[in-house]
Formats: sequence, C-alpha cells, structure tokens
Amino acid sequence: MRYCFVILSTVFLLACNESKTHYTQTQDEQSLRQLLQLPEHMPLPAIPEFNPLTQEKITLGRHLFYDKRLSANQTQSCESCHLQILAFTDGIPVPTGSTGQVLSRNSQGLGNAVYHSTFTWANDGFFELEDQLQVPIRADNPVELGVTDAEVETVLARFDEDPAYVQMFMEAFPESDSGASINKIIFALASFCRTMISAGSDYDRYLLGDDSALTQQQKRGFSLFNGEKFECFHCHNGINFSVSYRDINSNSGSLQFPFFNNGLYNLHGDGSYPAIDQGIFDLTSDPSDKGLFRPQSLRNVAITAPYMHDGSIETLREVIEHYARGGRLIESGDNAGDGRLSPLKSSFIQGFDASEEEIDAVIAFLESLTDYDFITDPRFSNPFEE
Ligand code: HEC
Ligand code: HEC
Repeated sequence: MRYCFVILSTVFLLACNESKTHYTQTQDEQSLRQLLQLPEHMPLPAIPEFNPLTQEKITLGRHLFYDKRLSANQTQSCESCHLQILAFTDGIPVPTGSTGQVLSRNSQGLGNAVYHSTFTWANDGFFELEDQLQVPIRADNPVELGVTDAEVETVLARFDEDPAYVQMFMEAFPESDSGASINKIIFALASFCRTMISAGSDYDRYLLGDDSALTQQQKRGFSLFNGEKFECFHCHNGINFSVSYRDINSNSGSLQFPFFNNGLYNLHGDGSYPAIDQGIFDLTSDPSDKGLFRPQSLRNVAITAPYMHDGSIETLREVIEHYARGGRLIESGDNAGDGRLSPLKSSFIQGFDASEEEIDAVIAFLESLTDYDFITDPRFSNPFEE
C-alpha cells in the first residue's frame, strides 16, 4: 500500500507542475510512425522535445553503438554488452567493463526501452535515455566505456579525424558547430535506442487478430499470467509488460516510482539485499527502500537469461518457482536468508500453489514474446559489417 501512496503523491506533485510535460508534438504522428516503422497496435512513444527523432541521428547512433572507438581504450562498444541476437542482452550474469572492472548488474535488454518511464534496474532519477546514457560512456565507477574527463578530447578526436563521421555528425546536427561532442553522441545513441521497437512476436500477431498465433497452452499461460493466483500482471502489465511505462498519452507523473522488492533476498531477516546492490536504497539510504528494483519488460524474455538485476536466476522455470514460493530461499553462504519471510517484499508476492502443467503454460506464454524479426532486423545490426 505504501507504493500506492508514493505513486499518488507523485501524481499530485506533478499535477501542480505542468511545465514538467515536455514530449514532442512537433513531429506529426504519421512521420514518427514511419521513422520508427511502428506497427498499428503500438502506441506512439514519448520522444523528448529537446531531441526530436531524425533519420540522420538514428544512423549516426547506430554507427556509434557498434564502434569500439567510443571506449577510452578502444576495446568495447555498446554491443559488447548488448547483442542484437540476444535482444540486446549478453547472456551472462554480470558483464565486465572496458578496463576489466566487473559490474554488479545484469546487462539489460534494449527492446522497447522507449516505453519505459524510468531507466536502469533501479534509478528514480533517470527519466530520459539521455540521462541514463551518461553512465556507460562517462562513469568512472564502475567503468563501462571509460570516457572520463581526462579521456574526452582523445575520444572525440577519433571521430573528428574520420571523414565519414564528420559527415554523419554534420548531417545529424546541421544547426550546430561541426565536430563531435559528448552531447551529440548521447543524443544520437538515444535516438538509435528509441528505434529498437520489438512488436513482431507471436503474441503481437495474436493481438492483431490472428487467433492461431498462440497455441492453446500459450493462451492458458496468458490467462494464468493475468490471473489473481500468479499475480504477474500487477507489475508486468500493458503492451510492454512493465509498470515502468509511458507513451505520448501518459500523464508524465503517473509512473515515476515503479519499483518493487520481489523477495529475491532476505539477509539478516530484515529484508536486506547483498551490500553490493540494494537497489533504490543505495540512492535514498531509506532502509525500507532495500531491494526495490524496476520490473523488467518481459518481451523477448525467453532469450535473455540469466535473470534479475544480478543475473542470479538461470531459467524461467526457476523464476516462476521463486514467485510460487513467495520469495527465494538461500540456505547457506553470505547471502543466506528466506525471501518469503522478508518484511520488505511487495504484498503481491504471496506465493501460490502451481502445478507443473500451469508453470509450463506460463513459460510457453513467455516464449510467445520472442520477436525473431527484432533480433535479425538489419536496421539494428552492425553497420560496419554490411
Ligand atoms: C560493460 C557492459 C555495458 C556496456 C559497454 C554498455 N552497457 Fe548498457 N547496460 C549495461 C548494464 C549492466 C545495464 C544496467 C545498468 C543498471 O541497472 O544500472 C545497462 C543498461 C542500459 C540501458 C538502460 C535500459 C533500460 O531499460 O533502462 C540502456 C539504454 C543502455 N544500457 C544502452 C547502452 C549504450 C547505448 C551503450 C554504449 C554507449 C551501453 N549501454 C554500453 C551494460 C553495458
Ligand atoms: C510485485 C511486483 C512483481 C510481481 C507480482 C511479479 N514480478 Fe516479475 N519482477 C519484478 C521485479 C521488481 C523484477 C526485477 C527484480 C530484481 O531484479 O531484483 C522482476 C523480474 C522478473 C523477471 C526477470 C526479467 C529479466 O529480464 O531478468 C521475470 C522473468 C519475471 N519477473 C516474471 C514474472 C512472472 C512470471 C510473474 C508472475 C508469476 C512476476 N514476474 C510477478 C516485479 C514483479
């Protein structure tokens, strides 16, 4: 219930501050749909007014995404942790950054990121991709691409010395001085990421009226997923299966605190998570925020294992068994504790009796969210390998 209160109070605050709405209406719906190749059933995403979408920015962003020159030591690109064939995840629990530092969080899939209302696994201050993208490029702890203050000029010079990039930067940002800048790089990458829309799965075909696109078992799984026994839909709802959601028609304040503790850990019996990552608590220091993470979109989830913010669950079956138990039991070791008894877990994580046949059906439904067109679409592939 606390969440309802927090969410409602945010709505109230924002309702009093209308200047907060800043999504573009400058691009007409038709041209934006064309640029995104957005299927009929997908809502128009909210694109911030300060960075309107253009084909030129998307093209530049796509090149940068796949270019190792964007890391200080030229060993990694965005693709190092976000592979198209895995719906832009990387198949391992946690990745290693360009300088060898191991990150504490699992690489997120980027499909439909444009529909999330907050970014990363747990941040209540990142409302735009442009905010979030400072991190992989610029952060010094942990290091991903490692473009720290000392490295900025060197990295930008690489693009300024390459005639193909000089041309692309000019076309993407015709109004400004020529040459690369961190802001331009971030705006172009954000534009490219916004085009990564996944809406071509069997489930989408079903939504569009093809009743045979889902098997009987998948349909049963869909209704279990949306039923009061499994309760999945409370946190994974809507077209993108996450309460962290927005589109052009959303009230900008409605979903700014979409974070839940799903009972993954319960150290010391007080609901603590391993100290390396306690979610929203690490930003607020409020003990009741321990373990609050964003419900991930479940699109393409069958190909994005391992699961959760730390990649600590290997299979979808184990994920569902975790929810069925009402929290995860870790019997020994540093992280020992019974998540079912966590005083901080969400009231939607009560546990339930599920038969193997029901679990199979929910897994089959989740498999229907895999979008094979998305993971092979040439628009999102490495432009240097064309
Ligand atoms: C070393 C691995 C690594 C590299 C390199 C990397 N990322 Fe990520 N990315 C991650 C991880 C891990 C997360 C989750 C971060 C968190 O929750 O704090 C993430 C999260 C994101 C998100 C947020 C998605 C969401 O749904 O909220 C976006 C967008 C993103 N990365 C894009 C990029 C882009 C663009 C680049 C290149 C500039 C990049 N990443 C480079 C590992 C990486
Ligand atoms: C109370 C809200 C809530 C409910 C109910 C819920 N989830 Fe989640 N789910 C989350 C959160 C939060 C995360 C991320 C937790 C973390 O990483 O620590 C998550 C993560 C997941 C993941 C991992 C996604 C990934 O890419 O790593 C899967 C799969 C998943 N949930 C499926 C389900 C299913 C199936 C159900 C119903 C049985 C369900 N969830 C019910 C909140 C919820």
